[in-house]
Amino acid sequence: MMKTTRPQDATTTDWQDSAFDVVRGLSAYTGSFLIAGLVGVMARHPDADVGNAFNHKQVACKTWARDMLFESLGGEYGRIVVLGGWYGVLAGMLFDDSRFSIERIDSVDIDDSVAAVAKTLNARAGDRFQALTQDMYALDYAGLDADLVINTSCEHIANLRAWLSLLPPGTRVLLQSNDYFSEPTHINCVPSLEAFVAQAGLSQLDYSGSLPMKKYTRFMLIGTV
Ligand SMILES: C[S@@+](CC[C@H](N)C(=O)[O-])C[C@H]1O[C@@H](n2cnc3c(N)ncnc32)[C@H](O)[C@@H]1O
Repeated sequence: MMKTTRPQDATTTDWQDSAFDVVRGLSAYTGSFLIAGLVGVMARHPDADVGNAFNHKQVACKTWARDMLFESLGGEYGRIVVLGGWYGVLAGMLFDDSRFSIERIDSVDIDDSVAAVAKTLNARAGDRFQALTQDMYALDYAGLDADLVINTSCEHIANLRAWLSLLPPGTRVLLQSNDYFSEPTHINCVPSLEAFVAQAGLSQLDYSGSLPMKKYTRFMLIGTV
């Protein structure tokens, strides 16, 4: 069977060089907006934890979000706001998908080390992408005028219902959480999809589903507050 893990005897430097060359080759081969952005991140932000942000589980959760979003609400959006947007991978995946027509995406994260990386990853979007360093609890949601608010880190939100109550009624949302209780930074996991539906209390539910991963299950809701 083909090995899918990195050889143990390779040096880190060799692998960084090889990985950069491979990603640059993939960028040339695919012509992908996102992979071109990843080349830029690897060149300009060598300390960014892109291996984590782009691991196959993270990518699977985001392709699932993108596909179900398209099926549930379609592909036409004015402003999308992604909370806990990290390195902007989901924004990049949405810009990279020709099914979607999006005027702009704002990626908000409390960690001031991620905005520069997110901007590099989404450089080709130009002014259509903004990375903001801000606490999601402190945003002026009424003034956002967002077509869609995305939060795929609900397991990191202490009181989900309290946060959702900050959004103007009628706001469309895409939410993800999980049952990965053993991860110390996860302060508000849910045991099941039903528990997540009850926790969020959305006024309209367009999609609810589960994505089983190896160590945990991810849950997603798409609907309206
Ligand atoms: C580990 S990441 C994302 C994990 C998730 N699997 C995903 O990709 O959507 C969670 C992000 O939420 C951010 N975050 C946590 N609390 C926040 C807050 N109050 N406001 C804005 N961002 C926050 C963290 O800085 C981090 O970048």
